[in-house]
Amino acid sequence: MEIVVSGIRPTGNLHLGNYFGAVKGFLQMQHEYDCKFFIADWHSLTTHPRPLDIQASTRTILSEYLACGIDPEVATIYVQSDVPETAELYLYLNMNAGIGELMRTTSFKDKARQQLHIDRTHPTEGDVEREIFNEGNKHSVSAGLLTYPTLMAADIIIHKAVKVPVGKDQEQNMEMARRFARRFNATYGVDLFPEPASFYYSHKAVKVPGLDGSGKMGKSEGNAIYLVDDEKTIRKKVMKAVTDSGPTEPNSVKPEPIANLFSMMEIVSTKETYDYFNEKYNSCEIRYGDMKKQLAEDINAFCAPIRERILEIQADRTLLDRVAREGAAKARESAAKTLQEVRQIIGFKAY
Ligand code: TYM
Repeated sequence: MEIVVSGIRPTGNLHLGNYFGAVKGFLQMQHEYDCKFFIADWHSLTTHPRPLDIQASTRTILSEYLACGIDPEVATIYVQSDVPETAELYLYLNMNAGIGELMRTTSFKDKARQQLHIDRTHPTEGDVEREIFNEGNKHSVSAGLLTYPTLMAADIIIHKAVKVPVGKDQEQNMEMARRFARRFNATYGVDLFPEPASFYYSHKAVKVPGLDGSGKMGKSEGNAIYLVDDEKTIRKKVMKAVTDSGPTEPNSVKPEPIANLFSMMEIVSTKETYDYFNEKYNSCEIRYGDMKKQLAEDINAFCAPIRERILEIQADRTLLDRVAREGAAKARESAAKTLQEVRQIIGFKAY
């Protein structure tokens, strides 16, 4: 069976972006592949180095994975920090990773701007490099953030995964993972690691939009609708979505905030509902209030059963501990096998 790996950082609750970008793919793949889904607690330290309670955050994602329908009987579910073999592979990969290529990744630049307190809305050429070396800037960027893609590559190739279900925002990290896998093989003249490909359940990369007019739904964007949100919260968030005064010409091109509203509807509502509002838009009869009400209802219908299961599972500490413990054992077994090969290839003593 082909091997599949993916992870999510425990930086809060799962939102619709995580679900439709990643988890939906996990659910589709779990019965057809040898799946390993993990909680990327080490990665969360790249932006939150002093977590309040990392175990509680990890349990949150674990219960949400289970509530969404990931079955620990068929997929391996584990916590990244329970598999220390990954950290050793990360160390080896870093020996062959260039500072320049890591610094050029867009997610590094974006998060570095945040950590260095540079204006993210008006990035300029060379601003990150300048501020990194500016001794006057009392903020700094961590080497952990810089090497985020190397750790992600290690997560994937430690199990020799060939497919990785992720959202569109991970494309560049995936490109780096392939590059590091290729480079390891070339450096040591072996054919150890396959090149992992992104997997999209709908055959094209998914980007769940924010409803605040911004491109992407995300925790750090502050525009996320969480799977655990109750009906009232969902309604409030959707009714706040940015709209305009409506089209004046039939069949006009939709401006971004409106296009986002429609994209969200395409994801959670039926085709009939989507077509109905699309026609209303095209004939300039759209009433955004009605559209939002319908969208809120459809989002709630989708989240409600998951929400109920989250609350149930979250309370079951015995179950959560068992899943994490059994998952860790299985993941370590697979990781240790690869690491043994890696050590031998580089030339360390194989005990
Ligand atoms: P994270 O925690 O940021 O996001 C987890 C998953 O959710 C997807 N996602 C989205 N997809 C579509 N639209 C959105 N608005 C949206 N927001 C989030 C992400 O694409 C991702 O699939 N680097 C990873 C964590 C990771 C990982 C790995 C993933 C660490 N190691 C190895 C795969 C394999 C991340 O940032 O996840």
